[in-house]
Amino acid sequence: LARHLPCASSVLLTVPGGARGALTVTTSLLKGLTDGCIKAVGRADVIRNQFSGATFEKVIDCSGKCVLPGLVDAHTHPVWAGDRVHEFAMKLAGASYMEIHQAGGGIHFTVEHTRKATEEELFNTFKHRLERMRRAGSTLVECKSGYGLNLETELKMLRVIERAKQSMDIGISSTYCGAHSVPKGKTATEATDDIINNHLPKLKELQLSGEIHVNNIDVFCEKGVFDLESTRRILQAGKDIGLQINFHGDELHPMKSAELGAELGARAISHLEEVSDEGITAMARAKCAAVLLPTTAYMLRLKQPQARKMLEEGVIVALGSDFNPNAYCFSMPMVMHLACVNMKMSMNEALVAATINAAYALGKSDTHGSIEAGKQGDLIIINSPRWEHLIYQFGGHEALINYVIVKGKVI
Ligand code: NIG
Ligand code: FE
Repeated sequence: LARHLPCASSVLLTVPGGARGALTVTTSLLKGLTDGCIKAVGRADVIRNQFSGATFEKVIDCSGKCVLPGLVDAHTHPVWAGDRVHEFAMKLAGASYMEIHQAGGGIHFTVEHTRKATEEELFNTFKHRLERMRRAGSTLVECKSGYGLNLETELKMLRVIERAKQSMDIGISSTYCGAHSVPKGKTATEATDDIINNHLPKLKELQLSGEIHVNNIDVFCEKGVFDLESTRRILQAGKDIGLQINFHGDELHPMKSAELGAELGARAISHLEEVSDEGITAMARAKCAAVLLPTTAYMLRLKQPQARKMLEEGVIVALGSDFNPNAYCFSMPMVMHLACVNMKMSMNEALVAATINAAYALGKSDTHGSIEAGKQGDLIIINSPRWEHLIYQFGGHEALINYVIVKGKVI
């Protein structure tokens, strides 16, 4: 039922009676949302009393449905031109990720195309990708630069991300990833110096003038890309200008990235297929989140990250789609499905990893990632009394997700 009333961002969700499933506590409750935040969570009769005089723009009857927090995608590379469908065929024929990269393809291919693209072209494709992510339930998405590598194109990408941040109904945490690869014609040391001496000072200036608002710094710490020492220098310099450390580590080779991240106070490290036992312990102790990316391990047929061991050791495990030209996946429900089947996570663990823990990995768990009074009103409503259908169904989630609500606004 929908009644039309004044406040633009005021939605009331009701589920009379007790819904089944692990999230009964949320689905059987009534939520009032005003000004973009969740106003109250509680028993239907109590909330009805509390808001008896209130008017709502929209009232959604959620009987037979589940209300969940909006999904949080903790790792994406969504701004680029030039897809790599031709490389998919090469990989299926047996070429490895690094073989393609070293032959000048992979990230280099995308960099070439992204440098040539206009800001407008990049924005239009990015916007469309964000809409597809949101349609699949994501309401907060981490978005990286990293297909420019030179200052000019990195800034172009960051401006595109900033524009979406300001104009679209979706949460964005933006990441400077100028150390995504060593640009052609430079050594890793030259690239590291360029980032520290030229990119980061410019970034700091633009942050101070309010032109862009970057949240995180990222480096691809990998054999043949940035070694541990270069990674340390770049991350430390980023931290010094106020960015949260959130980087790619221990993906294809054991690099001791986890140990480094724990030492530097990283918020999160992504991939970790090759993390050491000591690295896992260090991450647990440092409360450094592990952002696991099941699409990448699947696409590249890598060994699976040790999600079970991390969970048992108390690491904060989050999930991300890693959307990029290598892993072309917009959908966090698909990611949760893969995490359960291939990484042996339970459905509860996968949901936590794709909501509150992913928000933690972005430094936003105080405001995002769960249904609590005072938090941002980011919710999804699925057309099933069992929330697990979101993971159990293998694809086609756009039809299962009835509503996506961002800051209290029904999209
Ligand atoms: O997280 N590993 C490095 N970066 C991306 C892939 C980027 C690309 O291949 O374009 C990742 O998987
Ligand atoms: Fe990535």
